[in-house]
Amino acid sequence: MRSVATTLLLLHLHLSANAGSVNKGQPCSQGDNRLQAGTYQFWSDCNSQTYCAANNTCVARGCRRDDFPFGYAQGSDHIPDKCERGQFCPDEMDACQTLLSVGSACQLNRDDQCEAPDNFKELADTTGRGLNVNGSVCLNNVCMWANVTVGLSCVVENIGYTAYEAEGEFINIVSRGNCRVGLYCDSQQRVCMQNKVLGEACTADKECDSWNCMSNGACGVDASIPHHFSPWVYAVVALGIIGGMFGTLIGLFVVHRKQRDEEREKRVQYWREQNTFHQNLLQMRESARASILSLPGHGNSARSTVYSTRDGANSDDTHTPILQHAAKGSGLRNYIGDDGSSEYDEGSIVQSSRKTDGRF
Ligand SMILES: *[C@@H]1O[C@H](CO)[C@@H](O)[C@H](O)[C@H]1NC(C)=O
Ligand SMILES: *[C@@H]1O[C@H](CO)[C@@H](O)[C@H](O)[C@H]1NC(C)=O
Ligand SMILES: *[C@@H]1O[C@H](CO)[C@@H](O)[C@H](O)[C@H]1NC(C)=O
Repeated sequence: MRSVATTLLLLHLHLSANAGSVNKGQPCSQGDNRLQAGTYQFWSDCNSQTYCAANNTCVARGCRRDDFPFGYAQGSDHIPDKCERGQFCPDEMDACQTLLSVGSACQLNRDDQCEAPDNFKELADTTGRGLNVNGSVCLNNVCMWANVTVGLSCVVENIGYTAYEAEGEFINIVSRGNCRVGLYCDSQQRVCMQNKVLGEACTADKECDSWNCMSNGACGVDASIPHHFSPWVYAVVALGIIGGMFGTLIGLFVVHRKQRDEEREKRVQYWREQNTFHQNLLQMRESARASILSLPGHGNSARSTVYSTRDGANSDDTHTPILQHAAKGSGLRNYIGDDGSSEYDEGSIVQSSRKTDGRF
């Protein structure tokens, strides 16, 4: 059980690759301390909680640089303190040291190990590009200040880091100098030059204000700036959404109206047919009745029987107002009334009108 845990720990430490695997109290060699090829990260034989002391033994670290240092359990009691202001924690992380004065030896890229100039506020890099720390810079392992102005000679340090992309490895050259912020140290002439603006010809990112020298050899827009759309794009998108919504609604309305009209046309046609049948039927009865009435001895008696039930009048005028009353307000009923002027009792006519009415 214990050996498995140890193996896993060793594997973990091995994979982490920023520290060796020798535990506290075990022997190590200070001669193995080095910067890793490609990444230039500090490496020693000792594990990530220890450093290789002068007596070639791994000893617990005396300081840390990160808020959450690698290799320690969260909330561990063994985490060493960060250094106070005016001090720094070296790559070995053995103990805090006081800041180094100009001209002293510093470690690679450890600008924070160097003492700041008096005018540090003026010289400090606020771009977040790591041009200097508080106005001081460590170049070629020497502390200096980033205070050189345009046209004056400067110090430059070019380091090729191994970087990776989809196609494989490539070398990313990082060039740093001691020019003031807004200037760069030209690698050939070794003098400070003004940063180039958008569109100017360039050979390296450091020459551009935007920190982006494009493959076509001109300074491009800052790659870290988020892309913003102008207001009209938002307007067009909003119009598109609203237009799409209303277009769909109007389209559906038009389609449904067409269908509705077709349905109505069918019903009207159906009604006309029914009405024609009805009239044919009435005509047939009328003619049948006429033929019966034309027989001798029938005519007037039948007629008088029908109309005597009302107010005794027996002229044709009598039933017209009744039909008109029944047909009030609808062309449909008028149609029936006009042609359905028969001697059938008013009840049947009204009933048939109502029946037709119910369909519409
Ligand atoms: C090595 O030196 C450290 C202090 O630098 C000390 O704490 C430790 O006991 C020493 N180890 C041996 C084996 O001498
Ligand atoms: C910068 O340097 C000044 C002067 O040494 C110091 O007072 C200040 O705390 C430093 N600022 C930072 C962020 O290190
Ligand atoms: C510029 O910095 C250097 C150290 O890098 C220093 O010796 C020199 O006096 C500084 N010059 C000015 C004008 O501050």
